[in-house]
Parts: sequence; C-alpha cells; structure tokens
Amino acid sequence: MVTEAALMRFAEDFGTPLYVFDTRELSPRVRRISDALPSGTCLCYAVKANTFVLGALAGLVTRLEVCSPGEQRICRALGVPEAQLVVSGVSKDPAALGEALSARELPAAVTVESTSQLGLVRSLAAERGRRAPVLLRLSSGNQFGLDRADLLRAARDLADDPCLELRGVQFFSGTQKGSARRLRRELAGLDALMLELGLACGRPLPELEYGPGLPVAYFDGGAVDEGELLAALSEGIEGLSCRAHVTLELGRSLVAGCGTYLTRVTDTKTVAGQRYAIVDGGMHQIVYYGQSLAMRRPPVRLLGGPCGEGDGERDLGTRNVPGHAPGDAPAWNVCGSLCTVNDILAKQLPLPGLAEGSLLAFGRAGAYCATEGMSLFLSRDLPRVVLVGADGTPELVRAGVRTDPLNTPCPDRS
Ligand SMILES: Cc1ncc(COP(=O)(O)O)c(C=O)c1O
Repeated sequence: MVTEAALMRFAEDFGTPLYVFDTRELSPRVRRISDALPSGTCLCYAVKANTFVLGALAGLVTRLEVCSPGEQRICRALGVPEAQLVVSGVSKDPAALGEALSARELPAAVTVESTSQLGLVRSLAAERGRRAPVLLRLSSGNQFGLDRADLLRAARDLADDPCLELRGVQFFSGTQKGSARRLRRELAGLDALMLELGLACGRPLPELEYGPGLPVAYFDGGAVDEGELLAALSEGIEGLSCRAHVTLELGRSLVAGCGTYLTRVTDTKTVAGQRYAIVDGGMHQIVYYGQSLAMRRPPVRLLGGPCGEGDGERDLGTRNVPGHAPGDAPAWNVCGSLCTVNDILAKQLPLPGLAEGSLLAFGRAGAYCATEGMSLFLSRDLPRVVLVGADGTPELVRAGVRTDPLNTPCPDRS
C-alpha cells in the first residue's frame, strides 16, 4: 500500500492531477480471488478497466479480454501473446479482427455477438485458412450478445464448421452485482444452456466464460460481502453439470483497489453560504460507478492535513458524516475544473484544514477512472500516470498528454 508520505512526494515530483497505480496490490488481489474458487477456474482480465497495469497483470491471469482495435494494439505493443487474448466487442472491426486471425498464434477465443458477426468471423477465418475458436455471447436482454434463440441456431449451424470451432458461451450481465443469489441463478441458467447446446451440437462444449461483475464498495453504506459472493461463485461452478471449464472475466474488482487519484485544491470560496474547494482534476478523471452529482460520498481523504496526519488509511468517505454536529469541521463541496455544474466530486464533506494547495487522495481509483472519463471536455491535459513497482519506486508511464490537438480543426487540404 502506498503510504501517505509517498503519495505526497509523488504529487510534488510528478504534479497533479495524477493517477498512482500500485502494482504490488495486484498479485495478492488475484490470489485472493483465485484461492476462493475451485481449482482450475481461470481468470480473464477485462482490459478496459485499466490498460496501464496490463504489464504487471498479464502474467497473473490466464486471459485478457479486448473490446476494440485500440485495446488490441496496446496488448501487442506490450508484447502480450496473441493466444492470451479474447477478442470481444459489440462492434467488431474487420481489419483488427483479420489481424488477430492472421497472427502466428490464434487468439484464445473470438466472441460472436450477432448473426452477422458470425458471418464476419467465418469469412475472415476462411480467407486465412484458419479455424477460429469462437464463444457465442448470450445477451442479458440488451444490445450486447445474441438472443437465446439465435444463439441456439448459431450453435447448430456451427456444429461441423471447418472455419469456426465452437468452444462455448460468454455471458456478462452487468457490473457491481452484489447479490449472491443472482450469481447462483445466472450460473444455473448458463449450465442449462450449455447442456442444451451440447445436445444441439452432439458434443459437450468445453468452455464457459462468465463475467460476474463483482462489485467494489465505493461509497458509504455500500459495504460488499465479497466472501459471500466468491462462495456463491465457487458453489455455482462446482455444481455445473455441463462440466465446462470456467473462466471468470473480471475488471473492476481486480484493479480498483490498486489506484489512487491525486488532485490539488486550486481555489476556495464561499458562495451563498456554501464552501467550495476547486480542484485541478474533475469528474472526467475520477469515475466511480453510481457517482452522480456527488450524491454519495466517495473514498477521499485530505493528505498532510489535520485529518490526514498519521492516519493514511482513514477514509472520510466511509464516516457517518450527515449527522455531524454544528461546530464540527467545516464541510466542503469539492468541485473539479470543468465548465459544468455537474463537476462535483464530493458534497458537504468535512475536511478540517483544507486550504488552497491541499492535496486530496481519492482511493479505489484503479478501475475505469483512467480509461472511461470524458477526457476531451475543455481540452484539458490528461493526467500523468505513475506505476509503483515492487520496490516502491515510482515510474512515470504516461507523460501529461495535451488534448487540445485532438479538438483543433485541421482541414484536410490533400
Ligand atoms: C464482456 C465484459 N466482461 C467483463 C467486464 C468487466 O466487468 P467488471 O469491471 O464489472 O468486472 C465487462 C465490463 O464492461 C464486460 O463488458
């Protein structure tokens, strides 16, 4: 765990806003999840959650799920073996898919999310004389994946396909799922589907790739009983009649805990009786699932101030703040630097000692914050990214990136 002193030093040395991803957190995190699952259960990391920790994480998991040509290029640039990739995505790019199917080693699997995607994968594999391993993605009732009836039809259609090897099913029905009962129900439903597909194809299908959407507790009152969820997953997997080999696709729950987002207070003021602290970051760089207009309290702490001193672990976000008495520390509305009234990171947060120049550390910022924000708004620079290595040494892995060139019209005069 990066200490408060180290975070303050990184902010000095690299500037703010800054993401700090502590790679030392990853191996124990993977172990904790793996140890709770039946032996032989594999993990697949959904790259979209955080591409910066890929180098440290790729060797700890069996597979990496990529959903865009950009994610494929990042994996290639980092030397990730093609055979480790699951090429996924609701909209598949023929060129990127073609490249994946041309590589010396085929990807671990290509997911199929529609009837026309099936045709696309088949024709690209046929052109290359390859037999592509395919997972049919079952929809949970939205634009992702195949309708169940179409999936069954596709499976029958694939029974003896020379260009496509049907490996099994992929299913992901959403993130931040905190109900053990729901996980059990989903696994039971998938088991029934796998058995039905086995009958339709005349052979059992060997693979089930399931995204359980394990939750992360971001806000007060949002405690998660991860042990119970993992036990439910474990039981569900043990109880599968289809005997398929299971891979769990995980993003948020693997990497959220390794990240801290640092942002500095650039201004303070009182308007209509409300105290505002303006920070140099904003909502485009800190993405907590369910955070909207700071209606809930994020895991944030003031570094180096009275409430941070000697208490690097304390989370203001998990304290019972609403009942705080008059005369307590003044409450602040922490706002980012975007031109929108929505850019509120925390509301009415008691932050004793906060002043211009204070440093705020937002915890559990390792998932989606660096990859999901509305980064182009206001043409603000993208934050630098620091990876903390095994010996605690910080390494700058992304310099601050200017986004104004991306928002500058550049007529094509060719
Ligand atoms: C297909 C698929 N698998 C896995 C994940 C990872 O989900 P989570 O971050 O909730 O673990 C996602 C996230 O969007 C996804 O779309």
